[in-house]
Amino acid sequence: MSANAPDAGAVTAALRLRIVGLGGSLAPRSTSLAALDRVLAAARGAGAATERFAVADLDAPPYRPGRTPPPAIERLCAAVRDGAAMVWSSPLYHGSISGTFKNAIDWLEVLAERGEPYLDGKLVGLVATGAGDHALQAINSMEFMVRALRALACPLVVPVARAATVFGDDGAILDPEIAADLDRLGVLLVGGARTLALGAAFERRLQGPHAAAANVPSAASGPVDGR
Ligand SMILES: Cc1cc2nc3c(=O)[nH]c(=O)nc-3n(C[C@H](O)[C@H](O)[C@H](O)COP(=O)(O)O)c2cc1C
Repeated sequence: MSANAPDAGAVTAALRLRIVGLGGSLAPRSTSLAALDRVLAAARGAGAATERFAVADLDAPPYRPGRTPPPAIERLCAAVRDGAAMVWSSPLYHGSISGTFKNAIDWLEVLAERGEPYLDGKLVGLVATGAGDHALQAINSMEFMVRALRALACPLVVPVARAATVFGDDGAILDPEIAADLDRLGVLLVGGARTLALGAAFERRLQGPHAAAANVPSAASGPVDGR
């Protein structure tokens, strides 16, 4: 094995990584939350640990600069900071994401206030549910947000059209193709997050003591100050 290869600790960490889910609506039976749960279950099946934040449970006040984050937001920020990847799942509201979902994302500003670079280099899987055919519009909105938070969107996205016909009252997914896409997204996220984690470990090795011997140029790291 090359001296620059990631060590066993990095490999173990990559195998045990955590995927953090955020989404749902304030509706008593939320299709976007059911979709999120499906992706997270697939991620667990692929060997990841998962943590799920339903926006309804966050019960977050509107983000305001300087406002003390409530405990649920503190938990969300810690999970995002420590997690390897995220899944976002929002309903389509008036051609975009819901306000409650956006507010939860706005609260991630707390990370920047603490000198943590948002979702720097992490992978985000995107899901949206809509009553009509335009759930992709919410996903497009989320993709802009992913870039603003310095993350990477998973190439597979799952826009769920006519969600009322896709999900049963108990949240069961009645459309096997949608179920398969959500499962695929969970598996892809775990594989992609592992690849990124191992790549980062490899990069750290290259920048470490072996760098000079191997004549590796030093990578300039970007600023960590918010936007
Ligand atoms: C305030 C509001 C706005 C909505 N706007 C749209 C819309 O623009 N296009 C659409 O197809 N569905 C729209 N819907 C329907 C929701 O996208 C759809 O019912 C979705 O599945 C709800 O997700 P949930 O089950 O997680 O609450 C809207 C629903 C609400 C409550």
